[in-house]
Amino acid sequence: MISHVVVAGAGTMGAGIAQVFAQAGMRVSLVDVSPKQLENAIQKARDSLQRLAQKGSIAQDAIGPTLDRITTLNSFENLSADLFIEAVPENIDLKIDLFRKANAVFGPTTLFASNTSGLSISKMASALGSSRDLIGLHFFNPVPVMKLLEVVKGENTSERAIETARWIAEKLKKETIVVRDSPGFATSRLGICIAFEAMRMLETNVASAEDIDKAMVFGYGHPIGPLKLTDLVGLDVRLAIGEHLFQTLGQAQFQPPEILRKLVKEGALGQKSGRGFYPW
Ligand code: CAA
Repeated sequence: MISHVVVAGAGTMGAGIAQVFAQAGMRVSLVDVSPKQLENAIQKARDSLQRLAQKGSIAQDAIGPTLDRITTLNSFENLSADLFIEAVPENIDLKIDLFRKANAVFGPTTLFASNTSGLSISKMASALGSSRDLIGLHFFNPVPVMKLLEVVKGENTSERAIETARWIAEKLKKETIVVRDSPGFATSRLGICIAFEAMRMLETNVASAEDIDKAMVFGYGHPIGPLKLTDLVGLDVRLAIGEHLFQTLGQAQFQPPEILRKLVKEGALGQKSGRGFYPW
């Protein structure tokens, strides 16, 4: 059904998405304007495949052929594809601009997808006119490990696109949930609520960051606490999602806590900057 996938954006998510499609036997063109970013993405995929091979999840001799299925490119101008998925930063204007460019390149049978964690799928689709089918395919970091694919149905997303998404999930060995296009979908909306409440508890000295995280790890069986997870996702990323949810849903629980704004202002963005709620 899908044999060639174009992934636009070779950051953490793009690299992981390219890897899992290649693992499922599909040909992938990974596109980014930055050669350095593309190089890092392939290195990340190689490391991840090595980890999977070490614990026996994949065969050691599958690594080479999997990586060979990923081609890196600086532009998608001359490509054709069954699926075009964007994994560029969470800025709707950037995503719309990219989709408009792709709309002029790919034929009508190419399904368009966004890996957005909460921006409007319908808004992206409406910028392209009615003939283009667009769906949300929201993956989770680390993509090769996390089992969920959140499928987002925009106002005009076809049933056929939903069926294709289910087919993709089966090939990628992921579980699906289908969510109506609404701010933050299911996962970001729930995730932000818990994380922001944890931050407000830290601000008001209810407990230390370590103990708030331990509450969720040992009390609720989460693999990682909400503050540490925010450090991994990026404080700036979570602030942007929170601002979007507060603007669109208007509910007090989505108002970004002061401590989050303060840390982002100081450049404490989590693991990637060496400091967040924890030192790294
Ligand atoms: N590739 C392949 N395997 C990997 C990997 C990768 N990139 N990262 C971790 N693993 C594997 C390890 O090899 C290990 O395997 P075994 O248990 O079979 O030995 C397993 O995952 C656990 O790894 P570690 O022991 O190194 O570390 P850990 O116990 O801390 O687990 C984790 C790592 C699975 C990522 C865990 O920390 C976790 O579940 N974190 C939460 C992740 C999460 O919540 N992701 C969602 C973020 S939100 C998001 O992505 C959406 C958004 O839009 C912002």
